[in-house]
Amino acid sequence: MKTSYRINELKKAVNKNAEVVWDLCCDHGKIGISLFKENRKIIFVDQVEHIISNLRKKLEISKFNTKFQVIDAKEINIFNSKDESIIIAGVGGHTCIDIMSNILDRFGHLKSEFILSPQKNLIQVYEFLRLNQFNVISEKIIVDSKVKYHIIKVKQKVLS
Ligand SMILES: C[S@@+](CC[C@H](N)C(=O)[O-])C[C@H]1O[C@@H](n2cnc3c(N)ncnc32)[C@H](O)[C@@H]1O
Repeated sequence: MKTSYRINELKKAVNKNAEVVWDLCCDHGKIGISLFKENRKIIFVDQVEHIISNLRKKLEISKFNTKFQVIDAKEINIFNSKDESIIIAGVGGHTCIDIMSNILDRFGHLKSEFILSPQKNLIQVYEFLRLNQFNVISEKIIVDSKVKYHIIKVKQKVLS
């Protein structure tokens, strides 16, 4: 499958050794699909039923380890492992914040990495990250088909 420049850049941000990758708000699932790899589980999450059932049908013959959840992404039960990558792309900054703050409330300190690509409200996203002690591991601005995208990789600071 041909992947867009944006999806390729999101893919490059993910830890190569990640054993579990969450494609939150996945829609077409192209981000998760681009990250298929042996010994890796990809979990596709979207709150819209037919999106997930179509994706499940499309990928049922795939040899890769996949899981599908119709759920509001803020309710996911992460593994909270350093070998886990959680991608939130293509939604607004407030949705990113809502999802991350719910996960934080339920899991406390987070060991997983997050790859964020909010469509808007970037200032609010950075403020949320600062207040919640996330380190920015990398950040990139890319242009794909004349649209500008921010790709931010973050991890919560280790508590001493
Ligand atoms: C524009 S698509 C983004 C697709 C993909 N992530 C990308 O970047 O290409 C937005 C998707 O997010 C889903 N979505 C929005 N808010 C959500 C939430 N809180 N939980 C789960 N899915 C959500 C919508 O149903 C829609 O399919």
